[in-house]
Amino acid sequence: MERIPPLGLGTWQAAPGQVTEAVKLAIDAGYRHFDCAYLYHNESEIGDGIQCKIKEGVVRREDLFIVSKPGDEDMSLDRSGMVIPSDTDFLDTWEAMEDLVVAGLVKAIGVSNFNHKQLERLLNKPNLRFKPMTNQIECHPYLTQKDLIRFCQSRDVSVTAYRPLGGSSEGVGLLDNPVIQRVARKYSKSPAQILLRFQIQRNVIVIPKSVTPKRILENIQVFDFELSEQDMNDILGLDRNLRMCRLPIAENHKDYPFNIDY
Ligand SMILES: NC(=O)c1ccc[n+]([C@@H]2O[C@H](COP(=O)([O-])OP(=O)(O)OC[C@H]3O[C@@H](n4cnc5c(N)ncnc54)[C@H](OP(=O)(O)O)[C@@H]3O)[C@@H](O)[C@H]2O)c1
Repeated sequence: MERIPPLGLGTWQAAPGQVTEAVKLAIDAGYRHFDCAYLYHNESEIGDGIQCKIKEGVVRREDLFIVSKPGDEDMSLDRSGMVIPSDTDFLDTWEAMEDLVVAGLVKAIGVSNFNHKQLERLLNKPNLRFKPMTNQIECHPYLTQKDLIRFCQSRDVSVTAYRPLGGSSEGVGLLDNPVIQRVARKYSKSPAQILLRFQIQRNVIVIPKSVTPKRILENIQVFDFELSEQDMNDILGLDRNLRMCRLPIAENHKDYPFNIDY
């Protein structure tokens, strides 16, 4: 698959007991992209849902774009609770990931939470065999990531927005923001649909997570309307550089990505 489907299902905190049904419903509703990770402890149940729909003939494996991320859940911590930094160079990690493509174990590789300097360093790597297909970053109207998106897109690296709804309802209240609510009323759409459409119109891929049937269906109904330029600008104007996923216990790591502007 040469292009990542513009909307996928996020699966972080999707309970194993709920996610199989969520995936099945999502495939029926037209989702062809699933964002997963070893660390989310539910990949096996997600696989069950996918298998079921392949067996039913609803979808073929080659029509699906399935993302995973390696990760050691037992990050070693020091006495103060900070991650003990690894001295691995991510360019070496990238070479190992390239080997996976050559071996036919994965179709494409990408990065997540890379800032522009890290991405530049990777793109300038001598003998780069495969470019990253995407940079998956936190992105929503309170963290619009204008500069990083411009940088990635100018280098032909797509951007995938995680946390596009601002996380759970106890989170930052993005769904209740008055501008988002006003725009939602204007288009007779839900606030979540406005947040997702906002990204799609910037050519940014979105991966909202839900295990709620009504929401899974709602979140993919975002291809039948278009936000005006003024509404896009009003939403962009909400930026407050609010980063939710900071992982402060890794702040001392040499590759901690959030210490520069973008
Ligand atoms: N690479 C990384 O470092 C990284 C970090 C964070 C996340 N991610 C990925 O990005 C995905 C999305 O981010 P996220 O899960 O943090 O946040 P999110 O998708 O912004 O928000 C998910 C929350 O919104 C609720 N929700 C979903 N649709 C809704 C709707 N239409 N109306 C109202 N509420 C709705 C969900 O509840 P219900 O499920 O109860 O419906 C859930 O509580 C993750 O699942 C994961 O796959 C990657």
